[in-house]
Amino acid sequence: MRNILPLNPDSIARAANAIRDGDLVAFPTETVYGLGADATNDAAVAKIFEAKNRPTFNPLIIHIPDMDAARAIADISPTAADILKQFWPGSLSAILPRAEGSPVSRLASAGLDTLAIRIPAHDGARALLRAARTPIAAPSANSSGRISPTTAQHVAQDLGEKVAIILDGGPCTVGVESTILDLTGDQPAILRPGGVTLEAIEEVLGHSVARGWMDAQLDAVDENNAPTAPGMLRSHYAPAIPVRLDATHAEPGEALLGFGPTPEALDSLSPKGDLTEAAARLFDCLHRLDDGRFQGIAVAPIPDHGLGRAINDRLRRAAAS
Ligand code: TXA
Ligand code: MG
Repeated sequence: MRNILPLNPDSIARAANAIRDGDLVAFPTETVYGLGADATNDAAVAKIFEAKNRPTFNPLIIHIPDMDAARAIADISPTAADILKQFWPGSLSAILPRAEGSPVSRLASAGLDTLAIRIPAHDGARALLRAARTPIAAPSANSSGRISPTTAQHVAQDLGEKVAIILDGGPCTVGVESTILDLTGDQPAILRPGGVTLEAIEEVLGHSVARGWMDAQLDAVDENNAPTAPGMLRSHYAPAIPVRLDATHAEPGEALLGFGPTPEALDSLSPKGDLTEAAARLFDCLHRLDDGRFQGIAVAPIPDHGLGRAINDRLRRAAAS
């Protein structure tokens, strides 16, 4: 496809110009590919919702290159800053109060008085953010409800020419979206499990953290009903074919996706049972098994700790559609 450019200083400069012109740019982060637009430009942000067919009640994550840029858009208390210093740059998005006079489009935050913000660990992503000189609103670069992209090819297959430029930085190393940590309440709460584990967050905090995603996850919300907590769409990350969980064998027509020793498996998230490898491979495996060869995907049980929590969360939502 003509709009895929290898990630280098030249393509980053072109992509930064496209962002400043109000166009859409897909770019790699360590978690998944983002569909970026100038977060301060309402018309540009509107293009994201249109390209993804995303309901406008679902707010976007705002990406910035450093702490100074974060402070220009959100209020970061000393306590919040102490926590965030441990995880940024990285696979964690923080919910924080919108700063007074924050230039971020109200459409990007779905009218909320809070913002989800993140400093990605990916060097190319931060280079783009610095070159663009504006915060970049970026949801995952997939049609709403579908599987998140971890390669430039995934983005091209799904969104194609709706994007001005797709920066190709190769496969994402983490492979699941950022952990969303709400720092606006009395106590931090995880709204979405992701690339930074609950265990790592509890270690930094020195105490347990609320698992906000557990309550909301199978609420009767869907793409057409505003969820009580944003980001808690029940059906999400879904292949076109049914997904069955905790499977030990394949039914006729199904492909078995294994983890660890799974004798009958057609493919495996990690033959050696490594959760980091499984997270990095999850969406690519789902994309590849969703190519019309099978009537369903059966997935072996994944241990529910560390990155396994994010993997199981995505799989449950994939299975819920
Ligand atoms: O890893 C990631 O987080 C990727 C990369 C591109 O950064 N982005 C991503 O964006 O996963 P998206 O749009 O697919 O997910 C953003 C989530 C949504 O579930 C949204 O509801 C939630 O963040 N969110 C955004 N702003 C929020 C806010 N103010 N309060 C609560 N949740 C918010
Ligand atoms: Mg997404």
